[in-house]
Amino acid sequence: MDGTAPRLDLNAAALAALCDEVRDLILRHHAGLPDAFVGQSEGGAALAEAMREPEAAAGPTPAPELLAVVEQALSVTYNTASGGYLAYVPGGGLPAAAVGDLLASALNRYVGVWRAAPGLVELEQNVIRRFAEIVGYRTGADQTAHGILTSGGSLANFSAVVTAREALLGRDIRHGVLYTSAEAHHSVQKAAQLAGIFEDRVRIVPPGADLRLDPVALEHVVAEDRAQGLVPFCTVAQAGSTNTGVVDDLDALADVCAAHRMWFHVDAAYGGFFAMTQRGRAALRGLSRADSVTLDPHKGLFLPYGTGCLLVKEDGPLQRAHDVAAAYMPAMADGAEHIDFCAISPELSRRARGLPVWLALRLHGLDAFRAALDEKMDLARRLHHGIVARPWLETVTPPTLSLLSFQVKAEDPDAATERLLQTVNSYGRVFLTGTRIASHGYVGRACVLHLRTTARHIDMCLADLDRAHAELA
Ligand SMILES: Cc1ncc(COP(=O)(O)O)c(C=O)c1O
Repeated sequence: MDGTAPRLDLNAAALAALCDEVRDLILRHHAGLPDAFVGQSEGGAALAEAMREPEAAAGPTPAPELLAVVEQALSVTYNTASGGYLAYVPGGGLPAAAVGDLLASALNRYVGVWRAAPGLVELEQNVIRRFAEIVGYRTGADQTAHGILTSGGSLANFSAVVTAREALLGRDIRHGVLYTSAEAHHSVQKAAQLAGIFEDRVRIVPPGADLRLDPVALEHVVAEDRAQGLVPFCTVAQAGSTNTGVVDDLDALADVCAAHRMWFHVDAAYGGFFAMTQRGRAALRGLSRADSVTLDPHKGLFLPYGTGCLLVKEDGPLQRAHDVAAAYMPAMADGAEHIDFCAISPELSRRARGLPVWLALRLHGLDAFRAALDEKMDLARRLHHGIVARPWLETVTPPTLSLLSFQVKAEDPDAATERLLQTVNSYGRVFLTGTRIASHGYVGRACVLHLRTTARHIDMCLADLDRAHAELA
């Protein structure tokens, strides 16, 4: 060794050249996005095989070659960045936040403890403040709500259940029972499992006819469990279910939780940001009564994948559930004004997750997000009117927010609906997915939440439903 080991840092010219290459790729990619082919899942195994690298590359590879590999990888994907993506719950991909992600990583400061980057922590706290206002938590001088940005809704639900468990059960968790509905996202069951609340302590409360968690049935199951010596400690409600978009009666469920001293968590990963709109606020009445709320900015705020959020109404429980000290750590923040994110979350090192959110919110302004969410609600209603106008289709759940479900009227509605969806998706202009619910079997669903979805995509969806129906007749 002569002491001249290869340098991993890029000089200014090399960094600028790499940024230029990447910028060109992004601009090329973005140019066709609104109408890009929406899903290509054929050929995945062949692509994976072609991309496998059996040996390590010990030497350098020029950037253009590597970026060509990235473009090759894009050749088989669900195109989650296309305006025609109405599947699952669309993630966004807001360009401003993508640039914020690059900025956060390039600056690479440490935000796990307040002392290490108080300014960046405060930017993230500003984001948390805005989110707390959106769900209706107390704000200003007497604000007690706080929260964390997570990697997504699943991790937010996990920290919520751990916080509820710690607050209500303490160290003896053996008899604790958690309640939710069949409409709950599977991350709720997973969160309970990871928190040590196993299947036999998770109750799926029978739904009402409208698929919402039935408060009367909840009271009944809770009473039964208490009589058995169990300890009901948490109810998880849905504010926009992934399955069919239903919003539980949050006010009524908050009453039950208050009466039985249970933690009330609302999974608003899909639906929570609609509280920014007038119609959404009305549909989500009672949200501010939750002890904790999961939000997913990478859904309802159109951010790129990787940002969720847990808000907790009162100061204290989140920290009691997560705080562990270590001698090698820097001094923790002093006073209630400043927060060490590592003391209220499972994570220590992470990127400055708040920076891209803050950048996007400030660059566009909150009103732009409010208007976009209102537009998505209008578009879902446009699609719903189209479904109602087609006598061969039947609405299963109308859009409370921006998600609806439907079924084909046929002798075998399950098979007919599945075939219809497959045929529509094969045209590649819009992408729909289905689900199975106990009362109806297989249903089609459309979730209008992509920032690039416009009336044109909705009309394309209806035209493709007609075309597929005619072809299958
Ligand atoms: C209602 C709901 N909760 C939780 C999640 C899980 O969120 P994530 O995928 O961000 O972990 C989802 C994801 O679609 C969801 O729709």
